Amino acid sequence: MRAFIIPLIFLAGLVGAVDRSNFKTCEQAAFCKRHRTEEKRPEYNVVVDSVKANETGLNAVLESSINKLSLQVVLLEDSIVRILVDEAGTPLRPRFQPLIALDGEPKQARPTALESNPESASFVTPSGNKIILNYKPFRIDFFNSKKELIVSVNSKNLLKFEHFREKPADANNDDGFWEETFKSHKDSKPYGSSSVGVDISFVGYKFLYGLPEHADTVALRSTTNQEPYRLYNLDVFEYELGNGMSLYGAVPYVIANNPSQTVGAFWLNAAETWVDVASSTADKGVLASLVDKFKASKDVPTVDVHFISESGVIDLFILLGPKPADVFRQYAGLTGKYPLPPQFSIAYHQCRWNYNDEQDVAQVNAGFDEHDVPMDAIWLDIEHTDGKKYFTWDPVKFANPIKMLENLASKGRKLITISDPHIKKDDNYPVYKEAKDQGLFVKNADGSDYEGHCWPGASSYLDYLNPAVRNYWASQYHFDKYQGTTKDLFIWNDMNEPSVFSGPEVTMHKDARHHGDWEHRDIHNIYGFLHTISTHQGLVERSDKKIRPFILTRSFFSGSQRVAAVWTGDNMAEWSHLKASIPMMLSLSIGGIPHVGADVGGFFKNVDENLLVRWYQTGAFSPFFRAHAHIDCKRREPWLYSTETLNAIREAIRTRYAFLPYWYTLFYEHSVTGKPILRPLWAEFPEDESSYDEEREFLVGNGLLVRPVTEPDVQQVSLYLPGKKEVWYEWFNDKTRPAPGAVYVDTPLNRIPIFQRGGTIIPIRGRARRSSAQMRNDPITLYVAISMKDFANGTLYLDDGETYDYQNGQFLYWGFTYKKTSEFLYTITSKNLDPKGELDPDVYIEKIVLRGVRYYPRNIHLYYDDYNPENLEFEHDRDQHLVTIRKPGAYVSREWRIDIHT
Ligand SMILES: *[C@@H]1O[C@H](CO)[C@@H](O)[C@H](O)[C@H]1NC(C)=O
Ligand SMILES: *[C@@H]1O[C@H](CO)[C@@H](O)[C@H](O)[C@H]1NC(C)=O
Repeated sequence: MRAFIIPLIFLAGLVGAVDRSNFKTCEQAAFCKRHRTEEKRPEYNVVVDSVKANETGLNAVLESSINKLSLQVVLLEDSIVRILVDEAGTPLRPRFQPLIALDGEPKQARPTALESNPESASFVTPSGNKIILNYKPFRIDFFNSKKELIVSVNSKNLLKFEHFREKPADANNDDGFWEETFKSHKDSKPYGSSSVGVDISFVGYKFLYGLPEHADTVALRSTTNQEPYRLYNLDVFEYELGNGMSLYGAVPYVIANNPSQTVGAFWLNAAETWVDVASSTADKGVLASLVDKFKASKDVPTVDVHFISESGVIDLFILLGPKPADVFRQYAGLTGKYPLPPQFSIAYHQCRWNYNDEQDVAQVNAGFDEHDVPMDAIWLDIEHTDGKKYFTWDPVKFANPIKMLENLASKGRKLITISDPHIKKDDNYPVYKEAKDQGLFVKNADGSDYEGHCWPGASSYLDYLNPAVRNYWASQYHFDKYQGTTKDLFIWNDMNEPSVFSGPEVTMHKDARHHGDWEHRDIHNIYGFLHTISTHQGLVERSDKKIRPFILTRSFFSGSQRVAAVWTGDNMAEWSHLKASIPMMLSLSIGGIPHVGADVGGFFKNVDENLLVRWYQTGAFSPFFRAHAHIDCKRREPWLYSTETLNAIREAIRTRYAFLPYWYTLFYEHSVTGKPILRPLWAEFPEDESSYDEEREFLVGNGLLVRPVTEPDVQQVSLYLPGKKEVWYEWFNDKTRPAPGAVYVDTPLNRIPIFQRGGTIIPIRGRARRSSAQMRNDPITLYVAISMKDFANGTLYLDDGETYDYQNGQFLYWGFTYKKTSEFLYTITSKNLDPKGELDPDVYIEKIVLRGVRYYPRNIHLYYDDYNPENLEFEHDRDQHLVTIRKPGAYVSREWRIDIHT
């Protein structure tokens, strides 16, 4: 097994031109420096008399030589424990909690046993985890049902909680407590510092994941002697790879995995947050006495995490697993799932900054048809507006947007326009004027409207924290307000960190004011989330909740998955960025945000053909698949390249369309179970330790393993097939590969290395069309990959692809099972998995391909709707162990059985 600290693959040599001096280090953020480096911090003890148990947990007071804190330890449903620490008594100011990140109020649960003694109090969860609150010093230990310590909170005594206080007349500001300056920007800090932090140890773990968004490895690195990971949503120009600098979004959530248990910790705080990660062993300090007596404690690997936030409370959720699927469900239970998106949104998207005018759009649209390349949506960046005023059209270049939209819609295609939160300061722009008059903008500390520079020049920023502002913004999308739009137009929310070209670190001043007298510092990391919540509301309202919205956002927070898809922002046309897109997407995926992708081709710089092809192939297996380019880049429509390149791009996009039934089914299943769509190998093979730091390859659902080519000019790549006594099949040549093990595969330019896992059935559609809408009633082919146990199963979800009618029964969700029934008989059966689904479309199975057939079929019969058995034609390729059943013709929404007699 490889070590926890992963050597960076010399990404540094290829990095772009980020200006690091624009962004703070921990040393330059006064609160971070204090939390990280303070040597003698007063210890907190639980005040023994204060401990009170109730039906769902424990309440107590924590005391140090500096202040008193209130502590709640509450058991939630589904093996989650919430730890809430706030100032005790009556604080000078309330503290912000970004409760909007939660998908409703979490339900509390009853412990099975509550005990206390003079040193500690404890309770046991229904699933057998024991939680012990230790009094002196304050520490909370989590044991699993095998009585092993798995998580310990504050075992390093790093709890630090700066209470609000009156500014002393002689306040000295040496430590930046009362005021801070960064470059030319002053932060007035009228209430002083109110930061919070605590440590969490994951005992028995070497690998920790999460904390998107960073352009870094998927397994978190140790930050000892390095900068901590930073979570402070920023518009980072030409971001650098291989470090923990902030990017556009923040999910303050980590997952630890080892062969026996997976656990998570969610730090619900929207202020600037820094996270230190260190690997150690449990042989030092208090943990040594707690780990399994039969193991030497020095053999117990531990990952220590230190969360530090600038303001707010400590609101920490410990998710106790025990398996990856449990942790995914638990986190989705807290922050929500991605609702089923419209089908076009998971097909291929064509974007650039900018398609210049309606004629340009028409030509690009026609170009895809002329060259037989499927495409579902064309995107318009900021130049389509009248002077960067969102909800308007350039009167000359986009004079007839309805006609443009109808033209696209006639091919089943959509249009997506950009809509950012900065509002051009212009009294003739109704959105500006109304928002100003109604007081809807974020304010300066002195109460005047906050102003900064962004694309339109001088701009103000809507205060989406205010529900009235969200309603106002939502109403701008209504068809009567947003002129020139139809139901086939969807939305892209960009620059919503928010990006303020003239602000500190290219964002808003921390002492700016929001609704409810909160400072921007309190809510910064949810600003973009609030923007997209409001857009989502608008798109739902404009169609009377008939059509499902689609929104792409750059900035995000935990919970953003409830309203939007996310892309990894302004990447570069470099091989290193293609490679980095995989760990970035994986991190987002396990962070609860499933609809993710990176700009195909790279945003900045011109792209060479080889890289472009490989990027399309990676995009074809990314949940969100969009080509995009900077305004200074050469045009990139696929037909502008050599025939070989065009052919390879066409093939990659067609492959995506072929797999759409599988993708769509996975999106549906995510919306039910919260399971990621893109999965790191350990999500399906948590016991396979060689897969723990694998980030060249990933799984799509449980059935497909993809290892994109991310190196120039390679004829072959190596990859790892995980599992124990499993078998995988090379998708394009049906070769059988045993697992676990490394394999080499040939990768000519048009080849994407993909493998189907034995034991799965994958539905695809074999005919290429112009858009996914035109494939709606196309027949299905089932790929059956037989496992070592002569078994395979899989699912298919279908609906109309765009409305909410599926919530009223207009869907089908069917399962298919292949198994050995007796010595000479194998069967494939279909079964309705959700009888609420009433959809009965004209969609039939046109072909079934069986991989890994190790017998000789004599005849194959279909039993269907009580008719007599029908003899089916088939081909048997003995060398490839392949059987292809032609034209079974059974409908996907009916019960049928196929008997294979040997
Ligand atoms: C128990 O205490 C917790 C924390 O203060 C509180 O949230 C919860 O509502 C209480 N439960 C009951 C059943 O009163
Ligand atoms: C597929 O088979 C596995 C293994 O028996 C089972 O756990 C799973 O529930 C099955 N899935 C469906 C959709 O029937």
